[in-house]
Amino acid sequence: MRHKDKVAVVTGAAQGIGLGCAQRLHDEGARVVLADINGAKVAEAARQLDPDAATAIGVACDVASQAEVKALIAKAVERFGTVDIMVNNAATTVAADPLDLTEEEFDRVMAVNLKGTLFGCQEAGRLMVAKGGGAIVNMSSMQAELAIPTRVPYGVSKAAINQLTKIFALSLATKGVRVNAVAPGTILTDLTRGGVLSNEDSYRMILSRTPMGRCGEVDEIGSVVSFLASSDASYVTGQTLYVDGGRLTLNYVVPVDTLPGR
Ligand SMILES: NC(=O)c1ccc[n+]([C@@H]2O[C@H](COP(=O)([O-])OP(=O)(O)OC[C@H]3O[C@@H](n4cnc5c(N)ncnc54)[C@H](O)[C@@H]3O)[C@@H](O)[C@H]2O)c1
Repeated sequence: MRHKDKVAVVTGAAQGIGLGCAQRLHDEGARVVLADINGAKVAEAARQLDPDAATAIGVACDVASQAEVKALIAKAVERFGTVDIMVNNAATTVAADPLDLTEEEFDRVMAVNLKGTLFGCQEAGRLMVAKGGGAIVNMSSMQAELAIPTRVPYGVSKAAINQLTKIFALSLATKGVRVNAVAPGTILTDLTRGGVLSNEDSYRMILSRTPMGRCGEVDEIGSVVSFLASSDASYVTGQTLYVDGGRLTLNYVVPVDTLPGR
């Protein structure tokens, strides 16, 4: 129970990786505030973790709004007394040819992914500095390093999150607050299963760039987030940890025999 007596806030926690992170932190003893733009879904997700709402609550929050992120942190303090762990996970994307991408599309993805992470670092960071400790984990992506031509704002926002992570880590380094990021490879969620992985050719293409020969499980991200948020990582700050089955290390491709998890 390495997070016993700790309070964690996870954004984008109604489903997928965010929900997996919230579950993992909860399993390891934290009281968890699950936040999501989908208020009804995140309320249900929190109820699944704790029907009595004693150790988990759901809060509706659009992370693109600084006022809503401020209110989210205030809600966590009101309900559980403090915030020790902040996981800035919420994100969105848009698929468009770079020459056709609209200003509105670019602005919305940057507002959710980059400004949302900035607001989370600021609002939780301020509280953590005041109480002399805490850990922030930002959700990055392989696309911070490896580009996909039709994902302009997503890739740009994730690259910027890596730099934001370094900047906040340096600014808070002597204040007891560590700031790191996790960059997942392709993870099995309802969304990827029903989307890119539902097509055999695209599944093969993804595995050809995945030396371990399989996609990751949600809890394989949750466990790394939990580690970085814990005192086991007490001397780690400013890092982006790629949890990708070896993809970032790979030049060219690997052979694909089977499609596990499909
Ligand atoms: N699934 C993968 O393979 C993968 C790979 C690399 C990185 N990631 C990153 O992991 C994180 C989670 O991805 P996922 O696959 O679970 O995505 P997902 O789309 O399944 O879940 C994202 C959640 O964020 C919420 N959300 C969207 N906009 C929001 C906003 N403005 N404010 C608050 N909540 C908002 C959604 O409602 C949803 O519940 C994201 O940061 C994503 O970029 C995922």
